[in-house]
Amino acid sequence: MVVSAPWLVALAAVVLVVAGGGGVEFVYDGFAGAGLALDGMANVTPEGLLLLTNDTDMNKGHAFHPEPVRFRGAAAATEGGRTGVASSFSTTFVFAIVSEFIDLSTSGFAFLVAPSRDLSTAMPQQYLGMFNGSSNGDPRNQIFAVELDTVRNPEFADINNNHIGVDVNSLNSSAAAAAGYYDDATGELQNLSLISRKPMQVWVDYDAAAAEVTVAMAPVRWPRPKRPLLSTKVNLSTVISDTAYVGFSSASSIVLCKHYVLSWSFRLGGGAAPALDYSKLPKLPRIGPKPRSEALTVALPIATTAVVLAAVAVGFILLRRRLRYAELREDWEVEFGPHRFAFKDLYNATGGFKDKKLLGAGGFGRVYKGVLPVSRTEVAVKRVSHESRQGMKEFIAEVVSIGRIRHRNLVQLLGYCRRKGELLLVYDYMQNGSLDKYLYGCDEKPVLDWAQRIYIIKGVASGLLYMHEDWEQVVIHRDIKASNVLLDGDMNGRLGDFGLARLYDHGADPQTTHVVGTMGYLAPEMVRSGKATTLSDVFAFGAFLLEVTCGRRPIEEEEEEEGVAGADDDDRFVLVDWVLGHWRKGAISDAVDAKLGGEYDAAEADLVLRLGLTCLHPSPAARPTMRQVMQYLDGSAQLPELPPTYVTFNMLAAMDTHQGVFGAWSVRRSAAMSIGTMSDICLSGGR
Ligand SMILES: *[C@@H]1O[C@H](CO)[C@@H](O)[C@H](O)[C@H]1NC(C)=O
Ligand SMILES: *[C@@H]1O[C@H](CO)[C@@H](O)[C@H](O)[C@H]1NC(C)=O
Ligand SMILES: *[C@@H]1O[C@H](CO)[C@@H](O)[C@H](O)[C@H]1NC(C)=O
Ligand SMILES: *[C@@H]1O[C@H](CO)[C@@H](O)[C@H](O)[C@H]1NC(C)=O
Ligand SMILES: *[C@@H]1O[C@H](CO)[C@@H](O)[C@H](O)[C@H]1NC(C)=O
Repeated sequence: MVVSAPWLVALAAVVLVVAGGGGVEFVYDGFAGAGLALDGMANVTPEGLLLLTNDTDMNKGHAFHPEPVRFRGAAAATEGGRTGVASSFSTTFVFAIVSEFIDLSTSGFAFLVAPSRDLSTAMPQQYLGMFNGSSNGDPRNQIFAVELDTVRNPEFADINNNHIGVDVNSLNSSAAAAAGYYDDATGELQNLSLISRKPMQVWVDYDAAAAEVTVAMAPVRWPRPKRPLLSTKVNLSTVISDTAYVGFSSASSIVLCKHYVLSWSFRLGGGAAPALDYSKLPKLPRIGPKPRSEALTVALPIATTAVVLAAVAVGFILLRRRLRYAELREDWEVEFGPHRFAFKDLYNATGGFKDKKLLGAGGFGRVYKGVLPVSRTEVAVKRVSHESRQGMKEFIAEVVSIGRIRHRNLVQLLGYCRRKGELLLVYDYMQNGSLDKYLYGCDEKPVLDWAQRIYIIKGVASGLLYMHEDWEQVVIHRDIKASNVLLDGDMNGRLGDFGLARLYDHGADPQTTHVVGTMGYLAPEMVRSGKATTLSDVFAFGAFLLEVTCGRRPIEEEEEEEGVAGADDDDRFVLVDWVLGHWRKGAISDAVDAKLGGEYDAAEADLVLRLGLTCLHPSPAARPTMRQVMQYLDGSAQLPELPPTYVTFNMLAAMDTHQGVFGAWSVRRSAAMSIGTMSDICLSGGR
């Protein structure tokens, strides 16, 4: 029996009760002053949230109920009087996983029962701070856990990147199910996303008589679903120790991902865990823009109506005019005056931003075609919504300085305009639209022949080289991809959207859901550190080379008859792996776009593909500079053989155990799986 110290009961959060049947029972409605045993990164926030992970340094965090629980012996024996049998128990908790990026996570966490609070030999990342490479699967662990896993680790035979698993001494779950719940009314399975940032509740019950574990989950404040998500036979008498600690374990990885537990209750010896008091749930920190208060939502339309009816009727036309053309101007902008456009002009140029004038929509905003009044110049106007004013001055300064660059392979930036929450960028209009439309045959665009492709590739390379090395200052593009390459009237490739990703850099605007850049083009070191360099541009350029030569996107959701050698082992096609597969077989030309019908310069295509792979080297130091890339392309230097590291590359990536380059690379790939739907890949693909 666990004796609860009187001072503990007096504390706010925890209520320790000795249950009638001789079991143990406790409730934490929030964790402020709860006295949990914490280690590693685990922390209780001032609001009373249990925060298990707080950084990206591949650390661990553990939080345990401080007293051990006696699963066998005196307390447990009352259940049918048997000894040697681990007692039934029931637990429930509310959690939330809040990732820096809404669609990206790199680890999960677990509820666990462990013989000791010392988990110092366990490893972070995919080991969730519970096991290490050699102890995984070892019965001596005496660990029972329920994992909430947000990464699909093939080495633990995970079913997907959003599942709940019952773990007995091993991360290879003995049973697992995709996160979700069965609707009581319809009986249908509803999916839940663990990384949705929304609080959810989990119930875990162990029935000793039946030797069965059941797990259920639901959105917070919902009743427990009648049908559990998962139930599995496992006799915990043969697993857990006589006395054990109960708590949570979590690990961090390269993406900042916070694992919160909001409240928790536990009961030993039959019967359901005490209900949680939702009114006492600590508040999660707000992410994203301030939600409009409910009062405001109700009051606003009424107030607006009243105001419109009473006061503004007279000045209506005037007011509308003013609002329509309202801009944001600050003192520091004076020096950029010549580059500043009046919103009114842009509004008129684009016919009031009509859908008819829409040229495209990408990760950063919508682009409209316009004709400037007076000069009658054709322009493309990009509307980028942006709340944060932080860094705006630097950004505008950069925009203006980029605007001074003239190069035939860069889309000319003419100027900008600022409104509340919005930035408008004005570019030269490119008649033939973006390159990806031609590669993937959207909008009935003709397929480009090889001569056109190599011309575009060389053009883009020379534009990028100019930015990196030949202009007065180094400018990093940050988002090179086919959909950012535009074709002018002469089918000359021009790089657009320079430096725009900078607006969304980490820190400047944390609530943004953009990953800076586009999955499939992001260099591993950039995902890890968030820092863009010329070499991360080279990486993206490598992906671009493969994309143009193979006519395929860097990452594709597998839909049709794929199954080609080198395709990723789950339902995703990873272009670089596929090309590498062909290269290893000595038949790299097989990767060239079939739409060319065999009509291409084999030596050139071979060079471009190998150059693409070289640029895509996971280690930045092994990538060429744009100057070298240019020399390889025009034949003035010989492209060296691919580094031998590439030969074993996939194997290393699959191991994914260490935080080295290869580990991060592979994590990035699993992360890409969950992000595929939000990137530009799909935005432009669907159009
Ligand atoms: C994370 O938590 C640990 C342990 O409480 C603390 O030492 C560390 O400073 C925290 N890190 C951050 C980035 O808040
Ligand atoms: C793995 O964990 C086990 C059990 O905790 C421990 O005995 C062993 O030393 C650990 N191995 C490594 C390589 O850390
Ligand atoms: C876990 O699953 C993987 C993949 O199926 C397998 O190779 C490995 O041996 C399993 N490990 C344990 C401890 O069961
Ligand atoms: C739920 O998720 C599974 C895969 O985990 C998917 O096959 C299914 O279509 C999803 N159902 C709904 C209603 O979204
Ligand atoms: C579970 O294992 C214990 C110890 O081996 C045994 O006494 C008990 O009968 C088992 N329970 C069930 C339901 O099989």
